[in-house]
Amino acid sequence: MGNDAIRITDARTDAQYELPLFKGAVRAMELRKIKTGPDDFGMMTYDPAFLNTASCQSAITFIDGDRGILRYRGYPIEQLAQHCTYLEVAYLLLNGELPTAAELKEWVGAVTYHTMIHETTKKFLEGFRYDAHPMAMFVSTVAALATVYPDARNVLDGNVRALQIQRLIGKVPTIAAYCYRHSLGYPYVYPDNDLAYTENFMNMLWRMMERRYQVNPVLARALDVLFILHADHEQNCSTNVMRAVGSSQADPFLSTAASAAALSGPLHGGANEEVLKMLDEIGSKQNIPAYIEKVKSGQCKLMGFGHRVYKNFDPRASIIKWTAEQVFEVVGRNPKLDIALELERIALEDEYFIKRKLYPNVDFYSGIIYQAMGFKPEMFTVLFAIPRTVGWLAQWQEMITDPEQKIARPRQIYVGHEARDVVPMSKRTSGALIPSD
Ligand code: CMC
Repeated sequence: MGNDAIRITDARTDAQYELPLFKGAVRAMELRKIKTGPDDFGMMTYDPAFLNTASCQSAITFIDGDRGILRYRGYPIEQLAQHCTYLEVAYLLLNGELPTAAELKEWVGAVTYHTMIHETTKKFLEGFRYDAHPMAMFVSTVAALATVYPDARNVLDGNVRALQIQRLIGKVPTIAAYCYRHSLGYPYVYPDNDLAYTENFMNMLWRMMERRYQVNPVLARALDVLFILHADHEQNCSTNVMRAVGSSQADPFLSTAASAAALSGPLHGGANEEVLKMLDEIGSKQNIPAYIEKVKSGQCKLMGFGHRVYKNFDPRASIIKWTAEQVFEVVGRNPKLDIALELERIALEDEYFIKRKLYPNVDFYSGIIYQAMGFKPEMFTVLFAIPRTVGWLAQWQEMITDPEQKIARPRQIYVGHEARDVVPMSKRTSGALIPSD
């Protein structure tokens, strides 16, 4: 047997199988060869929550969770955050290489051309209740773009895909800003195509009656860096949704909305909002030990801590801490930072967190910066969704053009009833299994 195969003995039959390896992994379909007899369906894997299943090959993002490494297309996240703009990184994720000056100019022009949203989409947004959660508005409005661009359904045409990608990247900041203004009851500010990506976003968020809103360059750069850090993160929950929904050849607006819905959950992108609620609940440093005890006894989680892949440190969290310092120099220090730092210090010395390899993730400090910049916690996950849109689209594009991919359709292990007959209503007894806590 070579190094590129494994040999398995089936203890049920004593039969031996040699299964070839593909890039160090076993193709799950190879396991089907393992059967107890001709009528046997063949072996499957059982992997709830995909703890150990690679669902695709990808050349976009590399993570080494044990060493705290994150790279986009081979470039370390630290270098990208230091030297590039968000739109350069977006180009890199989508096209595989950093743009030349001419390519960047064309790309920025294309994205900027698509920043406006249709007036009917604006009216659609106006229909939301005054207290609607911005993330729910964002998800719904991104989905509603499908009503404006029916051509997007032609997902197998590369030119059509490229156009929708530009539209989405151009429009998500506009939608996000309109959601924000809607929740405050302020009139919407149209995009200003003379401004750079994050500057335009800030203008749409915060411009009031002044002739020209003065964007603070330090805050604009900080937001750009935060966008770079959030742009992609390989096969996370929402990206997996993008690939799964997109595999049915649904249009990219609907697939992106589905991914944003996945992001909204508190275990994923929604964690940044939860971190702020948690810091509010803790209130002051002296309450931290009691809160840690609550976490350890299983009453709640330490939000912004832990990660499926990072088991050492999240490199994004380190860059965010550094970015926070720049922001605080402009807007003043957010007092919640002191609680967060102390919480981190105590948690990292505690056996519970050490044993489980729980470290601060990207969401632990991002909310503190966003709040210092003037955002309400409900907006935090929307701020995550804007840059992650490019990651979703890069992964979608890769999935659609991968000849090995098909409609995503997992197997199950059926544990329900055997076949049984419907009885008349008069003979039925109550006993339905209604799930409850
Ligand atoms: N606080 C307390 N205990 C935790 C936490 C936490 N934040 N995270 C994990 N654990 C415990 C968990 O209870 C389990 O303990 P035990 O072995 O005793 O049962 C152990 O650590 C392993 O956790 P797990 O649930 O098997 O880990 P997972 O890989 O399934 O979950 C996670 C990863 C990120 C969902 C989880 O760590 C978590 O819920 N964290 C809090 C929410 C959060 O910050 N999410 C943002 C993730 S990063 C950015 C993003 O994805 O958007």
